[in-house]
Amino acid sequence: MKTNHPLMDLIDNKTAVVGVVGLGYVGLPLVQAFMAAGYRTMGFDVDDTKVASLLAGKSYIEHIASEWITDCIHSQKFVPTSDMARLAEADAILICVPTPLSASRDPDLTFVEATTREVAKVLRRGQLVVLESTTYPGTTRDVMLPILADSGLKPGEEFFLAYSPEREDPGNHDYSASRIPKVVGGINPLSLELANALYSQAVVQTVPVSTCEVAEACKILENTYRSVNIAMVNELKVLFDRIGIDVWEVIEAAKTKPFGFQAFYPGPGLGGHCIPIDPFYLSWVARKHEMSTRFIELAGEINTSMPRYVVSRTVEALNNVGKPLRGSRVGILGVAYKKDIDDPRESPSFKLMELLQAGGAILSYNDPHIPVLPSMRHYDVPRLASEPLTPQYLASLDCLLIATDHSAYDWDFIVRHTPLIVDTRNATRHVAASRGKIWRA
Ligand SMILES: NC(=O)c1ccc[n+]([C@@H]2O[C@H](COP(=O)([O-])OP(=O)(O)OC[C@H]3O[C@@H](n4cnc5c(N)ncnc54)[C@H](O)[C@@H]3O)[C@@H](O)[C@H]2O)c1
Repeated sequence: MKTNHPLMDLIDNKTAVVGVVGLGYVGLPLVQAFMAAGYRTMGFDVDDTKVASLLAGKSYIEHIASEWITDCIHSQKFVPTSDMARLAEADAILICVPTPLSASRDPDLTFVEATTREVAKVLRRGQLVVLESTTYPGTTRDVMLPILADSGLKPGEEFFLAYSPEREDPGNHDYSASRIPKVVGGINPLSLELANALYSQAVVQTVPVSTCEVAEACKILENTYRSVNIAMVNELKVLFDRIGIDVWEVIEAAKTKPFGFQAFYPGPGLGGHCIPIDPFYLSWVARKHEMSTRFIELAGEINTSMPRYVVSRTVEALNNVGKPLRGSRVGILGVAYKKDIDDPRESPSFKLMELLQAGGAILSYNDPHIPVLPSMRHYDVPRLASEPLTPQYLASLDCLLIATDHSAYDWDFIVRHTPLIVDTRNATRHVAASRGKIWRA
């Protein structure tokens, strides 16, 4: 039976105001899901340029349409603001701020802590706070709860706290935020019940679990599973290359097994905000408990070594046509970390460019989703502009390195006009002609 609580009534009759903190790749689609479910939403971000852009009806995320934002702003059902005092107006506060690694690869919770302090300043009776950012088990209860409890309100009675990991898959048109089941865990049964009731209005299915620690661990399990499996196929790719077996053909064949096998694919290295980072949140917890997470460390080591392997294959391919890397014109195709998105964070393309540049290559790139290379904190690459994919440009290259297989690319056209290709994504698999100039890496 449902607990009788004023917040439950607000959720049920859709008069609850949903506040989303952090209007990035995760936060903005979440706003979309709650707006579609009929809730009035508020969006909070410390980045004034994002707030100004939303108020002007302009999207800064490729797969979120500006028209949708304009409509939301006009309907006054979405209020973006950088005024954190207005967090008091939201009945439910969903936090989607970054959770990066520090320079020493430890969890950096400064964004989560700063947001929680802002919430604590205005926390009022009956509010529900949910963390969505990926983090290690224990963050919600051990880090956020004490900050919120400093408000003087009783956790789980006067305010409610839960964790529900985001599973956003940018660029995947089959799974928008509202179509992805959501795991929910609370600090106590009432927190869980309220959070679960809220999400079940906006997403296809909720998966309530016994504690917020289980929900936190679930997200890290999902991402570690990907990282480890990708590392395994990356290692097999190197071995199979050496013995003349096509790893892609092997995976396609293995995938026909109807049970017990899920296909993962090799690539130029890991990218994105999640897979290269999140597992190390767990390694940190393990170290605190005097344990090591060997699978995570090993997967990290193999995945991190991939760009070097790809560059060594590029050197081999150039050498085969009598050219040294130094002075060769190398074009990078795709700098987003995966296909059909405009997100370059942690993309292996930057490491590839850095290594190629260090080897004396003359760099250029094309990415229809990223017109100008952003400056990257960790990489020393030039601020190039995307080259138009003309026959002249392709013919002017000594080698084209396919790093991201965007759907917009016409592979027959690309292969026809390019003298030499290194393909890290098996993107050219259907191109029948000129296979001799394609190298897999
Ligand atoms: N991008 C994904 O595909 C994805 C998928 C699942 C989970 N996640 C997780 O979700 C979280 C957010 O990721 P993202 O990709 O949306 O990041 P993002 O960088 O796109 O967005 C985060 C936003 O938070 C804002 N912000 C930072 N500090 C703030 C503060 N104190 N108050 C208010 N706003 C603040 C930033 O300005 C930014 O707009 C991370 O923990 C990430 O690991 C991301």
